[in-house]
Amino acid sequence: MPTLDFKGKSFVYAHHLSVPFRELIVDPKKSLPAKGQKPSLNDNLIIHGDNLHALKALLPVYAGKVDCIYIDPPYNTGNEGWCYNDNVRSPLMKEWLKKSANPVDKEDLERHDKWLCMMWPRLSLLRDLLAEDGVIFVTLDDNEQHRMRCLMDELFVREESFYAQIAWQKKYATANDALGFSPMFDHILVYRKGADFVRNLLERTDENDTQYRHQDKDGVFRVDNYTCNKTADERPNLYYSVINPNTKEEIWPERKRVWGYSKKTHLQNVEENLIWWGKDGKGKVPGFKRYKHRLRGGGRTVPGTWWPHEFAGHTDEAKKELRDIMADSPDALSTITPKPIRLIQRILEIATDENSIVLDSFAGSGTTAHAVLSLNRKDQGNRKFILVETEDYADNLTAERVRRAISGYKFEGTKREELLREPLNWSKLQNADALIQKAESIEKFEGNTFDRVSKTVEDGALVVTGEKKITDKVEGLGGSFTFAELGPEMSLDKLLADGLPTFEALAKYVFYTATGQTLADVPKQTAKNAGLIGETDPYRVHLLYQADKKWLQSNESALTEKLVDEMAALNTGKKKLLVFAAAKFMGQRELSRRGVDFCQLPYAIHRILGD
Ligand SMILES: C[S@@+](CC[C@H](N)C(=O)[O-])C[C@H]1O[C@@H](n2cnc3c(N)ncnc32)[C@H](O)[C@@H]1O
Repeated sequence: MPTLDFKGKSFVYAHHLSVPFRELIVDPKKSLPAKGQKPSLNDNLIIHGDNLHALKALLPVYAGKVDCIYIDPPYNTGNEGWCYNDNVRSPLMKEWLKKSANPVDKEDLERHDKWLCMMWPRLSLLRDLLAEDGVIFVTLDDNEQHRMRCLMDELFVREESFYAQIAWQKKYATANDALGFSPMFDHILVYRKGADFVRNLLERTDENDTQYRHQDKDGVFRVDNYTCNKTADERPNLYYSVINPNTKEEIWPERKRVWGYSKKTHLQNVEENLIWWGKDGKGKVPGFKRYKHRLRGGGRTVPGTWWPHEFAGHTDEAKKELRDIMADSPDALSTITPKPIRLIQRILEIATDENSIVLDSFAGSGTTAHAVLSLNRKDQGNRKFILVETEDYADNLTAERVRRAISGYKFEGTKREELLREPLNWSKLQNADALIQKAESIEKFEGNTFDRVSKTVEDGALVVTGEKKITDKVEGLGGSFTFAELGPEMSLDKLLADGLPTFEALAKYVFYTATGQTLADVPKQTAKNAGLIGETDPYRVHLLYQADKKWLQSNESALTEKLVDEMAALNTGKKKLLVFAAAKFMGQRELSRRGVDFCQLPYAIHRILGD
């Protein structure tokens, strides 16, 4: 497979592996737990910090578990002010950091290399976090989308991983001051980890439904042509007469056409009352009653790769949404170009179910959380969000928007209400006077209720809208989240820098690195618990350790048969035992027979002990 080469690639290729693990430290003051609950890392999360470190910190708990990732990284336009400062051990990177072109700007001839170096390890971690049936959506513009596709082709290696490239119409009008062409759309790259991910169908829209104008006791239906474009010579079996049951008249297909159904299927259609003979039942041309509820997939539609603004919102809409909810924070819009809630909600509708985990590691104003909460409210779902934002506004913008979306907020602005929507068709246009009168009488009748009533033709329909300035309280969507900061590096070198670590610090470190799970509380050590520090589904983890050089050098610090007996007696669930100790007085074969995985305390400890 052809691959993209860029400056620095060899240095960042495996960088994600050397990024140290960090703990996530809950900040209860900035969290919004559910009533009566304490903030917990199991809740929705907003993490303040560089996503390279945050994603690594999430890995032990969320590797292979995230169902849907949406990211909106810096587009690399040259004026976003993003910096490349990953701590990659290489002279090239050090050189880059020394140079003044940080933040990365238009003058920087290596800006594409830097952007790719920034994205590579983050995408590698995102891929590791994704479930086997998970999917990632990335919004970009023409600055980097083509390079990003090459990167993603290389990181999502399976043939079936590339899933779609969507064009989202972010603007509804061209910019007349644009040099060259005025960009009207962004790209959304969609990659799945493997073939297990299949997109959902979308709910039908009003537009899909305009044809379904008829209704009888069996439901709502549209009338389809009963004939097809073949001749009697070509399809003699479809050329026969049918009877209108109301007039008893014998009817043949019009010249040069035949019925669209065989005689057998036609009789079945008669039996199932699927033939339309006009409003009065006396028509001379049959039609097929296509009921909405009988459509394949419940009539839901396959998502396309063209997302017009009517379907997925536009940038002005997104700015307005953010302005409405953060009216008292005018800086919000000068710092961020948000995405519309509708855009992300479309993604969630296509890619999640009610219990999915959704991750956005370039969170900005927190639109993804807002979309998750709003969709949960709509379908009573229980989707969970995890957001990461590096800037200091993670609290007063990202989290604050989510707090307001959850609890409700005061809104000052214009409320719009659609008072009439009449799809325009030939018969409506023939009766245009009646339609105009209808619109005008609504305008007259509602004039006192609204500040302004407008009549427009939009998407093939006559629309009457009322507008009113209001001060209102927008109802909260409900929900909760925990706010977390990144803790210090969990590396043994760091732990040992000041001599022997405490029992608690070492316990957290070994538990995290061995099981991938965080140890929130280290149990108090007693003579009875044989160094048990915690357990996971498959393991009970023991640590034989005291921060005391003499003790560590004594026989007391070694794993013995007596200790294994004690551990086994406590192990009522018959889990595997994982034991960390400085030494052992038992053979490996015997330990394996007793279900014990022995882990020698890291070499660094022996260095301190002077072994
Ligand atoms: C284009 S904005 C995202 C806007 C967002 N989709 C919304 O609707 O508000 C990109 C965000 O990513 C953040 N960001 C950039 N680099 C980051 C990093 N290394 N770790 C975490 N966040 C980062 C920026 O601070 C910025 O807020």
